[in-house]
Order: sequence, then structure tokens, then C-alpha cells
Amino acid sequence: MTESAKVDMDKIVSLCKRRGFLFQSSEIYGGLNGFWDYGPLGVELKRNVKEAWWRDMVTSHDELAVAAGAPTTYEMTGLDCTIIMHPQVWKCSGHYDLFHDFMVDCRESKKRYRHDQVRGRWVEFRGQKAFVATQLGGDEGLAEAEARALKFFGLRAKDAEKLAWDGPLVSLTKVSDFAQVLGPDAKTLGTLTAPREFNLMFKTYVGALSGEEGAAFLRPETAQGIFVNFKNVLDSTRVKVPFGIAQMGKSFRNEITPRNFTFRSREFEQMEIEFFCHPQASPDWYKYWRDRRYRWYLELGLSGDRLQLRDHEQDELSHYSCGTADIEYAFPFLPPGEFGELEGIAHRGDFDLRSHMEGKLVRQGNELVVELGEDGKPRHPGSGRDLSYFDDITRERFTPHVIEPSAGADRATLAFLCEAYQEDQVPDEKGNPRERVFLKFHPRLAPVKAAVFPLVKKDGMPEMAEKIYRELKPHFNVFYDEKGAVGRRYARQDEVGTPYCITVDGQSLQDGTVTIRDRDSLKQWRLRAEECVAEISGRLAGKIQ
Ligand code: GAP
Repeated sequence: MTESAKVDMDKIVSLCKRRGFLFQSSEIYGGLNGFWDYGPLGVELKRNVKEAWWRDMVTSHDELAVAAGAPTTYEMTGLDCTIIMHPQVWKCSGHYDLFHDFMVDCRESKKRYRHDQVRGRWVEFRGQKAFVATQLGGDEGLAEAEARALKFFGLRAKDAEKLAWDGPLVSLTKVSDFAQVLGPDAKTLGTLTAPREFNLMFKTYVGALSGEEGAAFLRPETAQGIFVNFKNVLDSTRVKVPFGIAQMGKSFRNEITPRNFTFRSREFEQMEIEFFCHPQASPDWYKYWRDRRYRWYLELGLSGDRLQLRDHEQDELSHYSCGTADIEYAFPFLPPGEFGELEGIAHRGDFDLRSHMEGKLVRQGNELVVELGEDGKPRHPGSGRDLSYFDDITRERFTPHVIEPSAGADRATLAFLCEAYQEDQVPDEKGNPRERVFLKFHPRLAPVKAAVFPLVKKDGMPEMAEKIYRELKPHFNVFYDEKGAVGRRYARQDEVGTPYCITVDGQSLQDGTVTIRDRDSLKQWRLRAEECVAEISGRLAGKIQ
């Protein structure tokens, strides 16, 4: 991470706390790593992100129109499933056996690291070689590796050129023997244990049974609730393939090293679609969803420079996937040139529906076959229910293929926050330049849509401002403020990204007009007080520019 990028992220984190977007969970007890609470403004922002997704993908989807680029018309519907599901779900989905990360422990510092997140650099001094490890990347990682190497070899900063470095920062996964590894927080070599598997699912116990009989898991993804309800949706609605089922809600992963603010949390929200289509049409639907979802982020304000669509290499694909692309964002906490995942769009074939019918599948060459236990029976048996689909026009029965656009609500919210953060200079009340921080949210995402101020707290201005506030309130989230200088009130609204401020002044009492101020352009204009609802609604909907 560069120094300037770090400063920006520090400023964003501090604004989030100061203005009530995000708090550390259980902060008064010292916090709990990997858990975050959304404050009064954060909850509005995240709700707006989720509502935009639900509206754009589900309720306002018009199945009578061929959407731009869609191979055919399609239907969309929703679900809201439980967090705790039958344990067999996770056995058949593969999560029970395969949903793990590798961790390494340090015998000296007693710290635990994710194997693939530790990087390091080989260095030699007077014939002794060491792999100096760090958890940082980019220039920060290089600087830390150098400082640690100097300390390890007992050298001073001025002796830095005596160190013989061999190659760039590389992942610890490239090192086979840990005897010469200096762990990220260790003082001696060889203190890291060999990598061990760590299942990321949170275990819990259902009912009074505390043994394995009552064991269950908090869902690590919302997707499985959709697959196991596939037949219920078909039987209770008249949807026909191709169609999608959407679900948003909490997921839980016991991440080994939660970090980067809310980016990698242990409790987070997902917004997932499972789109069921004919196997032959699936490559076209995969392309459609990949592009559709990428456009969605652009439409809501992420800049094309910081957003990328990246196709996975063959060796990156999950065990079930025959094609995956990630939508990634250049978060300011990442080293320059690095991107973090916002959403994955995966072509999952028929893996999930078949697993829940037949039992956990494994790949054998190009085939997916049911994994057998030592007794020759399925190791994790499926439900035995028929989850195939019968097309009553073509008279064909098939197991639909699935395209899965899987997004993180918290990561999207964080990306919109980072993108929105802006600094500029504006004239103060005396015309002198003043530093301004503002959040340039897309109007649909802004937590508060408008603020109403009386210029001063007398002469009937508060009464008129309160009336406007009450007229606006049923339509959108509006804030009323009469405390302090009006310049300070504007600054406070800029800082939380309120697109419009309405001010009642002396002239308002004479002619019934008020001023509206635009957050981004700082332009102000007058209109009649009773026109405020139509004006703000029109502007929020993009109908007035
Ligand atoms: N059903 C597929 C699935 O869950 P994933 O890539 O593991 O795929 C999908 O997760 C999205 O969920 C990610 O792109 C990310 O936005 C979000 N996500 C995953 N793990 C997360 C975590 N620990 N903290 C915050 N968001 C996370």
C-alpha cells in the first residue's frame, strides 16, 4: 500500500466512525475481530445498496421485454431461507469436505496466518539465507522485509546494501521447507508450522443435543438455500426455465485473518442469484450475467478505471465451475495495481442440483461422479428427490445448468464508500478557500437524500423549514437541522453525501421561494417551497439534470 493510499483509507475509516457509518462490533469490550456494526448512516447506505440490487435484478426486471443483451426473455423471483440448514446440505455441496483455507501457526509469537496471505523475500548475508516473511504487499511489504532483515542480521539502516536480495516478494506457498523462514512476527528462523487445513464453517448445536447428533453449521453462502428449494419454487409458481432465484442475507465464515475493514469479515451479507437455464444455452447466459453485473456497478457510480472484470484461469476455477469471472475493485487499502473481489459470476453447470439429488460429486476426468465411501455407497448421499426439469413445450427433461452471480453486500457498500470519498476546496462564507470532504454517492445510494435548514432560528424561518421537511419526509429520507452556522451545516451534509440542501432564508418569507444547493456542483438556485418534492424526486430519478 502506498503512503497516499494509506492516508485515504485511514481518512475513510475515521469518517465512517465519526459520522456513524461503521463501528467495530462490541467496541466497548475491545471489539471482536472480523465483526462490524453499521451505524445510523451505514445502515441506510447498505440498505440502499441491497434495495438497488433487489429492485434492479428482481422486482423491476421486466420479463415481457428482452433485456439488453439477454439471449431470451427470462423470469426472476426471490427467496429468504434460514441461516441454519440440514447438515447434509453442506456435505452434498462440498463445503463440509472442501471449504477450508490452509493456516500456519507460529510457535514463537503464537499467531496464526493464512498460508496464502503470507509473503516474503529471500535474502542472504554472510552466507546465511532467510526467507523474511510479511503480511504486507507492494512497497510496504518490501520496506517491512528490509527492516526485519536488518534487525535479524543485527545490521543498521546504513548497512542495507550489504543484504543480498534474491527475487521479489513471493507467497509463502512457494516455499517448501520452512526451516529458513522468519515468520511475520518471529525473531528466529523456522518457527512456522507446516500448513494445516482449517474449515471455515462456524459450527453450532441445534436443540438440547450437544454432541455430533445436534451439530449444524451457520451457512457460509446463501446459494444452497436456493438449490434445495428449486423444486418448491417450480411447484409453487409458474416459472419456466430460464429463470433466476435471488436471495440476500447473512453468511458466516470463520476467516483465519479477517482484515481490511469490512472487506474480509466473519459475518457478512451476500446478494446471490442462481440462474437456471438449458445446458446448451448456458454459455450465452454466462456472458450475459457477467456483463450485466459489471454494468450494474458502473451505473451506480464505480469508475471504470478502478473496476475490472477478470476471467479466472483454468487452475483458479472452483471444483464445480466450468467458467468464472470476478468483478474486482481497486480498493485504496490494496497496493497499487491490485484489485479485490466484489462479485464472482460462476458457470456451475449442473453440479449443485445433481449433488442434492445424487450425493456429493467429485470430478473424474471430465465427468462429475458421485463420491463413494469405503462401503461402495455414496459418501454423502443426496436427497434422492428429482430436481430435474421437464419442458412441456419441447417435451425434454433435463437438469438445468446454473449461472451464479454472487455479490457481497458489505464489499459493494465499502467500494461505493471508497469511490464516493472526495476532497476539494470551496470558498467559505468570507470567500476564503476552505478544505471540503464530501461523499459523492449516486443519489440512489445516498443515505440521506435532502437536508432542510432555516438560515437562522427566528423570524418564522424554522416553521417554514419544518413544513417543507414534513412534506418531503413521506417520500425520502430527509434531515432537519437548525443548529449552528449554515456553512457548518452544509459541510456536515457534504461529509455524509446528502445530494441536496434546502435553505429557508429572509426572501423565503417574502415570496415563498427557497434555495436548493447541489452537493457536487455547489450550484444554488431558487424555487417555490411547494415544488421541492417534485424537484428532488425528479433529480433523484435522473429526470431533471
Ligand atoms: N456462492 C458462491 C460464493 O459464495 P464467494 O466468492 O465465496 O462465492 C461471494 O463469495 C461474494 O461474497 C464475494 O465476491 C464477496 O463479495 C463476498 N464475501 C465472501 N467472503 C467474504 C468475507 N469474508 N467478508 C465479506 N464479504 C465476503
